[in-house]
Amino acid sequence: MKRNCILSFTLSGHGFSGAVCIDGDIKYATSLERITREKNDILFPISKSDLETFGWNADPSTYMEYIDLEFDLEKNYADIDIAGVEKFQALLNYLLEAAEISLNDVDVVVYSYRHNEIVRRFFNEKNPKIEFIVPEHHFSHACQAFLPSPFDEAAIMVVDGQGVPMKRTNGDQLSGSLSYGKGLDIETLIEFPVRYSLGGLYAAFTKKLGFKTNQEGKTMGLAAYGTSKIYDELKKELKFESLDFDVRKVFKKNLGFHNALYVLPDYVSFLKQFPDKKKDEDYSQLHKDLAYAVQKITEDVMVYLANWLCEKTGSKNLCIAGGVGLNCVANYQVLIRSKFENIFIHPNAGDNGLVVGQALYVYNNLKRNPRIYVDTHDYLGKQYTEKEVENAVEKYTGNEDVEITKYENLNELYDSLAKIIADGYITSWFQGRSEFGPRALGNRSIIADPRRHDMKDILNSRVKFRESFRPFTPSVLAERSNEFFELDVESPFMLLAPYVREGKDKLVPAITHADNTARVQTVTKDINERYYGLISAFERITGIPMVLDTSFNVADEPIVETPDDAIKCFLSTDIDALVVDKYLFKKKKKFLITA
Ligand SMILES: [Fe+2]
Repeated sequence: MKRNCILSFTLSGHGFSGAVCIDGDIKYATSLERITREKNDILFPISKSDLETFGWNADPSTYMEYIDLEFDLEKNYADIDIAGVEKFQALLNYLLEAAEISLNDVDVVVYSYRHNEIVRRFFNEKNPKIEFIVPEHHFSHACQAFLPSPFDEAAIMVVDGQGVPMKRTNGDQLSGSLSYGKGLDIETLIEFPVRYSLGGLYAAFTKKLGFKTNQEGKTMGLAAYGTSKIYDELKKELKFESLDFDVRKVFKKNLGFHNALYVLPDYVSFLKQFPDKKKDEDYSQLHKDLAYAVQKITEDVMVYLANWLCEKTGSKNLCIAGGVGLNCVANYQVLIRSKFENIFIHPNAGDNGLVVGQALYVYNNLKRNPRIYVDTHDYLGKQYTEKEVENAVEKYTGNEDVEITKYENLNELYDSLAKIIADGYITSWFQGRSEFGPRALGNRSIIADPRRHDMKDILNSRVKFRESFRPFTPSVLAERSNEFFELDVESPFMLLAPYVREGKDKLVPAITHADNTARVQTVTKDINERYYGLISAFERITGIPMVLDTSFNVADEPIVETPDDAIKCFLSTDIDALVVDKYLFKKKKKFLITA
């Protein structure tokens, strides 16, 4: 029987990603950066027409300074022949090969949002029957939040940076929306103009702190060290729906809003009073207070929006997507300060994950097919065969610096690696299909002992080279999570940052952040049997049901994708041991010295 086959692509300022959806099931999804090994690879450089499209009319050098992406202001990429663009072919081939399909099998290509015409032409030349659909950016985010959630009905919060200029708003861009989903349908309740963009607010503070675009997570980490001094000042200007302010004139120009749920402070003017952080300057209390301020304002707005949604929809379930949805600290505050009982945050909440929303929008919402896909895991990369792993490993057999052992019994492998972790070594772990989202969730992870006070510094000085204020995260056995963290729901995608229970911080200091929170991943056997097996082995040795988990990459590089990437990364860094599928690699000199 003919299968329904949808290819979905998103080309945004955060990357280029693709997904294959067959009969309503998201089979594979990945981002271009994983294949090209170029962080946040956006396929084409940002061109002059992109700047114009998004209303970025200031001096381009302003953007080039803090947007960590390639620019080319000379060339117009709108007329390029995409068939000749190797990067595009690489992503397309990855998806087609993984799903064992050809372009003849494809019914729909769903796409957003730069260079639509050249992509449409490419697919229609290959197969004229392909239907080409370009959905709205924020409606796709709403679909991404709700359609793959486990809920039949739910409130939906899209909190984002900015979308694409639209005809129906006379060229205005949105920054998010609130809606209600039931079955196949999503009813938009309210949309937010770009002027009150939470992502825009966060990006402005992030820039002030000397971080680049896509580095909002650093601001979130720094916020834990701040005081409320600047926040107290700024929040006086934060307004929620009330009778004491009138925002009609702000909106009636294009979007025609009669009211707004919130009005952000004029943070652009506010930030002008502070100097930009210089490159080699240490982080002062002012910087920490600025980070604290933007984090708390974001939390205030999201909690307000959640409560509004709760009252308006009466639902117990909340779904979140949009780039701000990656803010795990704010998500947790929404969970504990709103009346929602259940929360689903898309594991790849930003624009890269939009490919999932777009595909399900077409299959479920537009074509009215039943929802069958539930995002229970984020391992959407392709499966490497035993032969491919073997070939990668074979290249290093006989290498005199490493000892390689193959384990036929996986429990023995878990025990061996768990002992190495408990002995204080830095290890890395490659198995199964890669994570689609930005978090390593136990398939492409660097793993260490969370009990050690000095582990954070050791990891930073030897492997990760990250700023010392950024926290490392725990992967904990789901059934023991509540014992350590103030969390009574699962957090499978590391998108909630609960408080560490009093007294427990002393047991796991390497994953407890300065504000006593931890960015938790709860691990269950049915979702990730091998990772669960490894953590259980560590628990048997130490009594602690968690490991420290960080992404398997080094600074400025994407997370490893192939077995070969994993071995190369292991050998070129100061990681002591590596597991690739059933193989354990140990650097001989590391183990000789400390044995
Ligand atoms: Fe977005």
